[in-house]
Amino acid sequence: MKGIILAGGKATRLRPLTAITSKQLLPVYDKPMIYYPIETLIKAGIKDILIIISPEYSGHFLNLLGDGREFGARFSYAVQKEPRGLADAFIIGEDFIDNDDVTMILGDNIFDQDFSKEIKNFKGGAMIFAKQVPDPERFGVVEFDKEMRAISIEEKPEKPKSNYAVVGLYTYDNRIVEFAKNLAPSPRGEIEITDLNNIYLKSGEMKVNLFNTIWEDAGTFDSLLRVANIMAKKAASEK
Ligand code: G1P
Repeated sequence: MKGIILAGGKATRLRPLTAITSKQLLPVYDKPMIYYPIETLIKAGIKDILIIISPEYSGHFLNLLGDGREFGARFSYAVQKEPRGLADAFIIGEDFIDNDDVTMILGDNIFDQDFSKEIKNFKGGAMIFAKQVPDPERFGVVEFDKEMRAISIEEKPEKPKSNYAVVGLYTYDNRIVEFAKNLAPSPRGEIEITDLNNIYLKSGEMKVNLFNTIWEDAGTFDSLLRVANIMAKKAASEK
């Protein structure tokens, strides 16, 4: 199983915080944001990791993270010139993924959960993780049956069919690369992860895992502040 961290993008929503640095390098309590997705992958047993970054701050990521030795992992890097959508990660990552399965995590998704069991048990198809939230319309939304097979996945629907948000952690078999290469851009001009997920859903190969621990998409001022406070509290309680 290979790992990809998607840490590109321009993060215009967070300006001026992101005027001179990347969103994923901003502090979340006591460390740069990207440490969290790195630690989530490593905790899940994934140590061969491709970090996709935008050209402007690529040197900063290299200076901070190096080859991954300090984390007990191996880091490779790829530059994404323009943000073309989350599915682009599998096209950029084609050579890196090679013949393996792959787990992608978004560079601004912060978890406090051990996903190693689910990822070790992955046997092909696709697997997403979902959490119950009060504001599902902000996210990908999944509806599922008793066997935890996905019935529908919609990107930011006006009328969500469930309260379960699809979080930014996705596991796929090797077919994902070909699927991504054949995607057509959505009306907003991006190649969408939700379209990839729907390919697996249609063939009955999309498994849903629920979890109920900390999760934030730290892409707004409020969620960034909230997750920093959550991590500060957690650190204080562990002292
Ligand atoms: C992306 C995905 C969405 C997912 C979210 C998780 O949204 O498109 O399906 O629920 O990440 O953080 P974005 O944050 O790019 O708007």
